[in-house]
Amino acid sequence: MTTFSRWALVAVVVAAAVLAGLGWISLRQWERSAESAFREQARDMATMAAEKFEMVLRGAPEPVIARLRAAAATGDPRAVESALAEPAVREALESSLGGGGAPTILALLDPQSRPVYARESLGAAQRVAAARLREGLPDWQIGLYQQPGAAPHVTVRRQVMLFSAALGILLVVIVAGSVTTYRLTRRESEVARLKADFVANVSHDLKTPLSVIRMFGETLEMGRVPDQATREEYYRVITRESERLSRLIDNVLDFSRIEGGRRTYERAPTPVEPLVRESLEPFAYPLAQGGFKVEVDVAADLPDVMIDAAAVAQALSNLVDNAIKYAGERKTVRVSAAVVGDRLMLAVADEGIGIAPAEHGRIFEKFYRVGRSDTQGRRGSGVGLALVRHVTEAHGGRVTVESTPGMGSRFTLVLPVR
Ligand SMILES: Nc1ncnc2c1ncn2[C@@H]1O[C@H](COP(=O)(O)OP(=O)(O)OP(=O)(O)O)[C@@H](O)[C@H]1O
Ligand SMILES: [Mg+2]
Repeated sequence: MTTFSRWALVAVVVAAAVLAGLGWISLRQWERSAESAFREQARDMATMAAEKFEMVLRGAPEPVIARLRAAAATGDPRAVESALAEPAVREALESSLGGGGAPTILALLDPQSRPVYARESLGAAQRVAAARLREGLPDWQIGLYQQPGAAPHVTVRRQVMLFSAALGILLVVIVAGSVTTYRLTRRESEVARLKADFVANVSHDLKTPLSVIRMFGETLEMGRVPDQATREEYYRVITRESERLSRLIDNVLDFSRIEGGRRTYERAPTPVEPLVRESLEPFAYPLAQGGFKVEVDVAADLPDVMIDAAAVAQALSNLVDNAIKYAGERKTVRVSAAVVGDRLMLAVADEGIGIAPAEHGRIFEKFYRVGRSDTQGRRGSGVGLALVRHVTEAHGGRVTVESTPGMGSRFTLVLPVR
């Protein structure tokens, strides 16, 4: 699945890159041909104007043209100007160099290619084409000018830029879309894998206490336990194991309620000290059994806090459960409660295996467990901390973790007092 989606992503990116390359090449070609088409058109216009000018000029008397030529030869602009002012020349100029349309201006160029006449001021206009006059005024030319913004290469450039931008946006959208899809499918398949682990883990967690209960129940039923003290011990084990089962089932049920958006909280003023004590009570036996050092530090005179007592107790139980489950060589559990400002801080600390900083964000995700369940050796369904986070956030608070691998962890519920 992931290999397939990875290849699909690679295919899309390669296709997009090829598309970009081809698009770029064809844009360059188009740019070149559009520019030469533009220039050709401009040349044609200039040639046509030159022919018309010559035609009209043919009607003018020969001395007029001779004067114009002589004036140009002297190089004196004023002489040229007065020769151009001759009515016959003026008529030829006006009838052949007029019009042309707004961005194009036709001009008469003297043998030094200097514009000597144009209907409008040339300003910053650039010459894009010129056509030589053949009769009458050889070496003179008719030039075609265009305003800077309207010059062919500028226009073409602008269009190329527009197309490139559109192509670029398209490619970015394609690639971003595929990457997002790829990540989504990755995420989905990861969740599917975690879910499968979750089912296996929960089933295992249910089986262990059940088989203990069954074994002790059967032994008692067969009447094989003669003395009263051992019998009582067996009853206690059965009660304890069923409590553990209930806790596990409550956790899973509450988690599914949260997932379905059906979990509701009923807040009431709650004293903190009994809440902490009652959350720890179910763990008295495993704590004693494991040889744990338990420290409870609840500040004196804590005010009652507005919380859903059962939900917060469940969150606290999950933290204590983790502290026991992920203990290392040093078996300690410290539970503390204090009010700082308008916040209640409920903390559970251990000196256990700890959590790598990179995992701190992920452990609160549903089903997530550090390492694979089979390599970790400690059973769990991976919903405990997801539940803790949901409960604290529903109370307008948050849960924080400080942990160093090998040194231990400290989880703190930060809840508003009101
Ligand atoms: N106190 C802790 N010390 C070290 N690692 C911890 C601690 N608490 C949680 N973790 C890590 O975070 C993961 C997620 O914890 P979480 O409580 O959500 O799941 P779980 O304990 O595996 O299963 P369960 O749903 O039964 O509680 C754990 O699998 C564990 O790897
Ligand atoms: Mg847990």
